[in-house]
This record gives sequence, C-alpha cells and structure tokens, in this order.
Amino acid sequence: MGKDRAALAIHDPPYNVVAFEIQQVSEFIDCCSKWVSITFDALSADASLYVWIGADQNNGFQPLPDFMIMMRGQSFRPRSFITMRNQRGYGTQKNWMAVRQELLYYIKGNPDFQVEYTDIPKVLRGYYKTVNGEVTENLQRSKSDNIRASNVWIDVQQVFYRMDENVSGCYAQKPLKSIERIIRASSCADDLVIDFFSHSGTTLLACELLNRKCYTVDIDPVFAEITIRRLEHYRATGRAGWQNGNPFEHELGELETWKTELDSDKMIIKDELPVQSALL
Ligand SMILES: C[S@@+](CC[C@H](N)C(=O)[O-])C[C@H]1O[C@@H](n2cnc3c(N)ncnc32)[C@H](O)[C@@H]1O
Repeated sequence: MGKDRAALAIHDPPYNVVAFEIQQVSEFIDCCSKWVSITFDALSADASLYVWIGADQNNGFQPLPDFMIMMRGQSFRPRSFITMRNQRGYGTQKNWMAVRQELLYYIKGNPDFQVEYTDIPKVLRGYYKTVNGEVTENLQRSKSDNIRASNVWIDVQQVFYRMDENVSGCYAQKPLKSIERIIRASSCADDLVIDFFSHSGTTLLACELLNRKCYTVDIDPVFAEITIRRLEHYRATGRAGWQNGNPFEHELGELETWKTELDSDKMIIKDELPVQSALL
C-alpha cells in the first residue's frame, strides 16, 4: 500500500468451507487477529471495518463468539452487529430454518457515516409528535418514503445462477447490493477501500461502480484471476457477472473445439492444447 491509507475495509474470510482445509476455531481466530492488526495499520485515522463472519449452530455458533472476544483485545471499537437475511436457508423440520448472514461493523477514530435507505416503502403510521403546534405522524416528518437501512437487512437478494452478477465457481460470492450499501454508508468518492479476501471480486467491482479506489488480494491465484476478469468483463460489456456463463468460457470453448477435433479423428498432439485449458 506504500503510504496509502484506506477509509474502509470489507473482509469476508473463509471459515470451514468445504473447499478449504478445515481449521480449528483457535487457529482461525489466531489468523484473524493477524489480519485485523494489519487492517488497523492500513486504515486512516478515521475509518471503518466490516467483517462477514459465520455462526455455526452445530458448533457453538463459532467462529462468531470467539471472533467477537478476540476483537475486544484489538484497537477497533464495535459499532453494529448486522444480520443479512438469505433467501435460501438450510435446516430440518426440527429447527428454525437458518437464513442469517452475520456482518460486524467496527470503527477506528470517528469516521463519517451516510444514512442509507432501502427499497422498502414505509407503511406503518404512528410515532405522533407535535411540531409547531400541529400533531404530525412519522410519515409526514420523515426524509424518505422508504425505510432506513437498519442492522437487519431483508432486502438483499442472495446471488444465484439466474442473476446477471453471478460468477460461476464462486460459492461464497456476496451480493453486490450489500457491498455497495457498505461502501456508500462508510466511504466517500475517491476514497480507498481494501478487501483481503477478494474471491469473485465483488468489492473491486462495487468500488468501480461507486468511484472508489480499491486494493484487493486473494491467496488463490484462480480467484485472483477471476477478480481481474470480472472487472475487465464489466468494463467491456457493462455486465456485473456471467449469469450462468463462466469466467473461463473462452478457455472452455477452446477445450470443446479440441475435443471435437479429437472426436473427428483429427491428429492432435497434447502440446497443442491451450495452456489454460490444460490447467483447467
Ligand atoms: C468467503 S470468500 C470471499 C467472498 C467475497 N466477499 C465475494 O463476494 O466474492 C474468501 C476468499 O478468501 C480467500 N483466502 C483464504 N485465505 C486467504 C488468505 N490467507 N489471504 C487472502 N485470501 C485468502 C479464498 O481463496 C476465498 O476466495
């Protein structure tokens, strides 16, 4: 980052996802405490940190509670505990369907915060108050016809393969709408945003859409490549993802051609395979 400091960090670390090595909670938390300290140093004096974190009901709701305890020893101050509602849940007939997605909001110093409104119209009346001698109800006094975004988000559609923003192969992709909401609320135009766990590149794309700068990384070169391709794809086509297409469809197409040639008994030697296709 050189001397650059970010106004906002949005991190979505992996936890016991099938594709990763299963870690003990304590190992995961040790690792988190390291990237949290690095984040603190990478942020400006007044900045925000958002962390998506799981709560496994079959394992003491971990890692959420241990993460919260670890954060009490860090220099950030807790600000809000947001829950986003997923549309597709999991569960049995003997338990409440699990649809929660937890998002913790911490601050460093005294960052700005812009109030956000949802797409949900206000329908409830009440909260009567006398203003200039006249009894008014809340709808007359409010700044918007829509409900303010609270710390319970029920208006964000979970990403699935029919959505334009879908990136096939990215099983942990966050909805663009949720990341855009965070960015609008906790940063200004031209600010720098950081994300240490890029995956499908949602934070990078949201920053492009909202005129922020973004530094992002992923330990896995395939996800780093997908992140780059997603931004290039958006710049070339205006599309936020591939829907049920694929970021590697070009290479997969070449692979199909190669298979067809092979089927038609045409002579082909292995070294003629395009490198990327061979890797796939
Ligand atoms: C849950 S996903 C992030 C999803 C992302 N918010 C999105 O919307 O696409 C976590 C990502 O972190 C990456 N990752 C895991 N360990 C990492 C590490 N130590 N440093 C950087 N990236 C890591 C994984 O490769 C994975 O792509």
